[in-house]
Amino acid sequence: MKYIIAFLMLLAVAACSQQTGNTAQLQAQIDSLQNKLDRTYKPGFGEFMSSIQVHHNKLWFAGTNGNWKLADFEINEIKESLGDIKLFCTDRPEANSIGMIEQPLQNVSNAIQQKSITEFKSNYTILTSTCNSCHQATQHEFNIITIPTAPPYTNQSFKPAL
Ligand code: HEC
Repeated sequence: MKYIIAFLMLLAVAACSQQTGNTAQLQAQIDSLQNKLDRTYKPGFGEFMSSIQVHHNKLWFAGTNGNWKLADFEINEIKESLGDIKLFCTDRPEANSIGMIEQPLQNVSNAIQQKSITEFKSNYTILTSTCNSCHQATQHEFNIITIPTAPPYTNQSFKPAL
């Protein structure tokens, strides 16, 4: 009986030290993953904005050419980048001002659904002035967005596909 108890105690001690070993190993894995996460590249606010700038430009030429499928695509790219700012730029208080552009964006989306160039143009103008309202609200008033006069690239057609 004595031997059995001693044996059981030995087993318990062995199991405990095994447990401690596993915990230390897991902690080391968590630390190493955390380390990798900390060094993962994520785009900054300005990089998302530069991407929005391109889609804002293309959106104009898609809409004014009546290429509604492309216009819909471009506006969704803008919405996606704004969503990414909310997700990835939580350290930037400016991200809290994104709400102001949601309705103007939706109004352009509605004009695209209605396939109305007139509605599109007037709502695009409001959208663009809201870009600037946010730049003013976030001390970036020097960054002035305008209705584009030329597409950003020469290797893309904005006419609807045949
Ligand atoms: C939430 C407020 C907000 C809204 C809405 C907003 N911006 Fe910005 N934008 C900023 C801030 C803040 C910066 C500065 C980012 C930085 O720190 O690099 C910026 C920077 C920019 C830049 C400068 C990027 C560069 O490096 O030259 C462009 C271009 C730009 N925005 C375009 C737009 C366009 C186009 C829209 C509308 C479709 C828009 N922004 C809407 C806040 C906003």
